[in-house]
Amino acid sequence: MFFRFLGIILLTINVFEHSEINLKMQNFTFHNPTKLIFGKGTIGEIGPKLRGASFKKVFMIAGGGSIQKTGVYQQVVASLKRAGIEWSEAWGVRPNPVLSKVREMIQMAKVAGVDAILAVGGGSVIDSAKSVACGYFLNDVWAAYEKHEPVIRALPVYAILTLSATGTEMNGFAVITHEAEKKKWNIYGPALYPRVSIVDPDVQRNLPWSQTVNGTLDALAHIQEFYFMGGDSETTLALDESLCRSMIQVTDKLKRDPKDYGARANLAWAATLALNGISGAGQSSGDWATHGIEHALSAINPDIAHGAGLGVIFPAWITYCQNVNPAIFKRWSKNIWRSSTVAGGVRALKAKIKAWGSPTTLTELGICREQFPEIAANVIQYGMTGNLKKLSQRDIQKILMLAA
Ligand code: NZQ
Ligand code: ZN
Repeated sequence: MFFRFLGIILLTINVFEHSEINLKMQNFTFHNPTKLIFGKGTIGEIGPKLRGASFKKVFMIAGGGSIQKTGVYQQVVASLKRAGIEWSEAWGVRPNPVLSKVREMIQMAKVAGVDAILAVGGGSVIDSAKSVACGYFLNDVWAAYEKHEPVIRALPVYAILTLSATGTEMNGFAVITHEAEKKKWNIYGPALYPRVSIVDPDVQRNLPWSQTVNGTLDALAHIQEFYFMGGDSETTLALDESLCRSMIQVTDKLKRDPKDYGARANLAWAATLALNGISGAGQSSGDWATHGIEHALSAINPDIAHGAGLGVIFPAWITYCQNVNPAIFKRWSKNIWRSSTVAGGVRALKAKIKAWGSPTTLTELGICREQFPEIAANVIQYGMTGNLKKLSQRDIQKILMLAA
């Protein structure tokens, strides 16, 4: 109790040190090379797309088996056979995917002698596939994550997305965990954009509810990471607000009817737009401290789902950083949550997360206060500490305190 009270006093002093920033619309280059094929019944297009690119053999990467239950695997295999494409398979990518599995799959891909990688699954599968694709040409794939080696070459990546959340189906990022060193880090490279991604929202109709919510919370967080930079990129800010409102609305609809195709399709498209370059155009490179903190949580406890962790940290980060750029936080509260105060906006966000059945405290995620120093140190080592406000180790601990 005392520490929480002390934390609030320190926080109050800290936030008033900052004057309002006024970010001008930044120059940007928008180039997204991924061909996105979207809609019901589109999975069968994978074979012809691979054949059209003259590939003969692909390396299929999958997770723990959901694609067999949903029938996605059967559709992919039928399409590959019809197109005369050979393939070999690697299964068992886990959520919060790990380096050891990526290394194992790089060896398998080399032995199999493949022309391209085909990822069939959620963000963890696609990120692992991207890592295999570039790791194929590197001495050690982790060196790229440590930024010791640039990501220049990669086998072509094709993706069948089964969970809308991360945006990885249409971006050049990948995130994996070095489990021995507890580092959940990322790489980026133009070569990592999937050549073709297929998104059939209908295959998400039987997703566990918690995964649907994790997806929404992740996509909302991606937009917020850009949006809170504020400034005068009115087109982007207005687009971001629309995306947020739309995602909240359709997630509510899915809570009532998980099989509502219209709601699934709108959520899927919004989640892709949230991190394919459009939602951040003109917004500098975004803040990303909340993501930095979440990655540390999942690195330390791999059972924490990325979206669930973000749902706990984002409200605390907003509370902590609101006075760095008051206008944008007030605008968000008013335009998304119809509240005249930021505290009201944060309350409404947390109430919505709770109503969706997702955690709003670190305690619910199984994280205790004794772990805060380790988590904060992990974020500092990762270096993803924010751009709107560069967080120190103490700042991070205070945010964790607010999220406790
Ligand atoms: O493994 P399977 O059996 O396939 O089951 C998965 C997994 O258990 C299941 N699932 C997927 N599609 C399904 C389904 N279950 C039923 N029906 C379906 N249609 O869902 C579970 C979670 O899958 P996962 O791939 O881990 O989830 P998500 O797509 O949310 O990916 C999260 C990972 O992506 C990273 C996260 O940090 C996390 O490691 N991120 C990647 C980013 C990127 N590359 O741009 C950006 C993000 O900020 C994020 O960091
Ligand atoms: Zn994310």
